[in-house]
Amino acid sequence: MKNIYPFNSKVGYGQRRMQMQQEPRLVWLTGLSGSGKSTLALRLEHHLFHLGYKVFLLDGDNIRNGLCRDLGFSKQDRKENMRRVAEVAKLMLDAGLVVICAFISPYREERELARQVVGPERFTEVYINCSLQVCEQRDTKGLYAKARQGLIKDFTGISAPYEAPQSPHLLLRTDRESIDDSLQKLIAFVEPQLRLP
Ligand code: PPS
Repeated sequence: MKNIYPFNSKVGYGQRRMQMQQEPRLVWLTGLSGSGKSTLALRLEHHLFHLGYKVFLLDGDNIRNGLCRDLGFSKQDRKENMRRVAEVAKLMLDAGLVVICAFISPYREERELARQVVGPERFTEVYINCSLQVCEQRDTKGLYAKARQGLIKDFTGISAPYEAPQSPHLLLRTDRESIDDSLQKLIAFVEPQLRLP
């Protein structure tokens, strides 16, 4: 950018990893509203924290209450939501943290952008696959009912698209297995990626 001169820290990334004793990584959970993203993300964070990992969760509902409170759910706003979250996650990874992101993140292009921003080698994509029918039956927040009545516009799965990942690193069927089973698979997949070689 014009008149902007970024500089590098005197503390190297390798030094930070050694101090933190972990491999910084972004675990990105994508899926429909009600698919179980937040539940799994919260439990994964809790589990990793108690194993001693320095981990932090960024979740759609929370981020939209602060950093992204000016954004709605149009395609443009969701894109900006992803851009900000990816930049925040990158800073956290550069600081040596393990980051979990739980966002609907319905557009393939935006998830790819997040992957590029943080660096593909630090990005793990997890698809929380739950059929629309089951998400709608659960309707824990009552949002699907409102969307069907036309009270919420651009609602993912109803009046806005969800582009499923084509080759996620991990796929969890939260409509076919218990949340405990999904969590065990998630932990078994992620935890080895956080250990230093
Ligand atoms: S996105 O698509 O990634 O920008 O969405 P995200 O930041 O994850 O926010 C999703 C939560 O916002 C609530 N909500 C909506 N979701 C989808 N579509 C519309 N129109 C909408 N309006 C509000 C909803 O509580 C989502 O939370 P989850 O946890 O996914 O149910």
